[in-house]
This record gives sequence, C-alpha cells and structure tokens, in this order.
Amino acid sequence: MSKLTVKDIEVGGKRVFVRVDFNVPLTPEGAVLDDTKIRAALPTIKYLLEKGGRVILASHLGRPQGHIVEELRMDPVAARLSQLLGQEVQKVDAVVGEAVEKAVGNLSPGEVLLLENVRFEPGERKNDPGFAQALARLGDVAVSDAFGTAHRAHASNSGVSRFLPVVAGFLMEKEILYLTKSRQDPPSPLVAILGGKKVADKIGVIRYFIKHADSLLLGGAMANTFLKARGLTVGSSFYEEDKVAVAGEILQAASGPGLAEIFLPIDLAVTEELRAQGSFKIVGAAEIPAGWSAVDIGPKTVEMFQKVIRGARLVLWNGPLGAYEYPPFNLGTENVARAVAASGAESVVGGGDLVAALDGLGLSSQMTHVSTGGGAILEFWEGKELPGLAAINNQKS
Ligand code: 3PG
Repeated sequence: MSKLTVKDIEVGGKRVFVRVDFNVPLTPEGAVLDDTKIRAALPTIKYLLEKGGRVILASHLGRPQGHIVEELRMDPVAARLSQLLGQEVQKVDAVVGEAVEKAVGNLSPGEVLLLENVRFEPGERKNDPGFAQALARLGDVAVSDAFGTAHRAHASNSGVSRFLPVVAGFLMEKEILYLTKSRQDPPSPLVAILGGKKVADKIGVIRYFIKHADSLLLGGAMANTFLKARGLTVGSSFYEEDKVAVAGEILQAASGPGLAEIFLPIDLAVTEELRAQGSFKIVGAAEIPAGWSAVDIGPKTVEMFQKVIRGARLVLWNGPLGAYEYPPFNLGTENVARAVAASGAESVVGGGDLVAALDGLGLSSQMTHVSTGGGAILEFWEGKELPGLAAINNQKS
C-alpha cells in the first residue's frame, strides 16, 4: 500500500490520536443498537494498546450541527467499547480544552480515552484550523481509521494532518486495499448493483459504472425514478420528480457501444400499506396500480438479475433492493445476495442499509469485503479524492 500504516510507526509511550467512526445506531433508551463499527475498529485499538500507546479516540455520532445534543453523547459508545476491550475506557465530556488535555496527560501507556462527540464543536464540520490544532495538541501522532467518514473534509479526519503525521489503521488499510483493487484494473465482467432510496446520492457513481461496468442492475426505490423516466406510471411509489430528467439522460447516454447495459426491474412487489408481513401482489413494472407502492423487486427481476450475476467476476453493490426492514420485502435483496455468494465472483458491498439487510439475513459473511463506508464508498468508486484518505501520509519511495 502506498500509505503509511500503524505498523510503520513507533507507538510505545506515545499519545496516539485515533479518528474512528463510531457513528452507530442507538436504541430509544440510548444504548448501542448495532456495534459493528465499534468492532471494526478493535484490531487497531488493541494493537496500539498492546504496543504501549496512550490511545485517544475521537468520533462523531449523528449530526449535532456544532451544538451539544444530550442524546448524542459518546457515553454509551464508551460503555460498549469497554465491554468489547475488556478494559476501562475513560470518557471525557469535552472534545478539546484544559480538562481534556489534563485527562490525556494522566493516561498511562496501554490506557484508552474517548473524547466527546467531535461534532459538538462547530469547528469540526468547518474544518477550522484552530480547532484542528487543538485536537492535534492531544497527540504525538494521528491514526486514521474512520473510512466511513473519509469523504468529509472535517477537522478531526482531515485538518489535523496539517499539524500531526497521520497513518492508516488496520480498518482503513483493508478498505483502501479492497476498494483500490475494485477500481484499478477490475476483473471483467464487472456487475454493479445499486439500490436504496435516492438517485440524487448516486448520479456520479452511476455515470462511473456506465463507463466501467459491464452491467448495472438497479433496484430499490431509486429504480422508480428510472421507471418514471421510461414513461411508466409508478402509482404511489416513492420517486424523485426532480431527478426524472437526469435519469432519462442517463438511460439515453447508456445506450452506446462499450457501455454498461442497464437492467431495471421488470416486475415488482407492490402494496397499499407498507408494514411487515403486510399484504402485497406482484405486478409487471408497467402495471403498478394507482394507490399502490413498489416495495421490492419481483421474482422475474430476481431471475434476470441472477442470470447477469452468474457470469460476473466482480460485483460491486450499494443499497438494498427493497424495503428490507419489512419482511418479506427483503426477499429481492436476499435472493440477489445468494446469487452473488454462489457466483464465485469477488464481491464488495457497502452502505449502512445494505449491510444491515445482509446482516439481518445472515449473508454478510458470504461477501468478500463488507465496507464500513456508505457515502465514502460511493465517492471512492466515483473517483473523487476522499479528504480522509488524502490526509494519510504516503510511504516514502
Ligand atoms: C456514516 O455513517 O456513513 C458515516 O459515519 C458518515 O456520517 P455522515 O454522513 O453524518 O457524515
């Protein structure tokens, strides 16, 4: 890898500032609902502790917009991390300042401290140099292990690199390796699958896949916007009126030679009321009745997608193909995931909703690489420079 990693630095006795992505879902009572992201950072944290580092962890949680939001304090994360590490995780109620510097000063080698939610500070999202410098004062070296946040140019994952050397943690290293491989010289046929709700977030990546993939399979609510652009009526289904024109342009542009073939749903599960185990029927994509909403791809679409996937050597997938939180509308996602697993193709999947859907179905372990990135993976595939990656020091040649 071209970037420096934790293996390249001496950490014994050093204050190691680690940017992690502990942006985890919480229960209404405020406990950690899903600790996947915390677990994903454990190899780096354990390694640094074993090497005698004095570990200072920083993360955001939610989008508090530069204010203190009581429900978004990091205490439940500290509690869960303590359990997972089997050692006390000290927690401070501020991000920077005297009290924090004192707590850092009191840390012994092999001890760990979690800062308060970095987004409580307005300087974080503004990438304010003063705030970045105050963060940098807490460490001798910085470790970047927050791939999920790598597409944000914020102080704790980008600005801090102006004041401290930054190296990649193990999670970040793994993400960079898999994702770079999937982008530089990918094996062909490359099948891209995109689902989820909004076309708006995915226009750039759709354009990239049209040029670089062999096939592009579209599902989830975003497919409704494309069906609309094809001139179909979509009943009461969610679609983005202001993206119908761009969807039409994309379909038009994708019809040239050497470009990916786009596959849209040919049948759909539709319902009058979205709820788990609710009643539904399967209709052709051109036959969604008024008052009904598309909530999953139908069996003929699944079959069509499976046929394409069977020949793939690489599958890149972001976004679920139906309203997976309401079974049986997770069936489309499930059957396509089973086809991906059976195909023998290398598979790289990402996006919180898709990963949650695959976890719920017990299928995550059958994918080659499950990314912790949502927006970050889309921007990476699209070819944008991610500020959180750019901040990591390169290996000297
Ligand atoms: C995520 O959950 O995708 C990351 O933590 C980034 O969160 P953000 O979209 O609020 O920046």
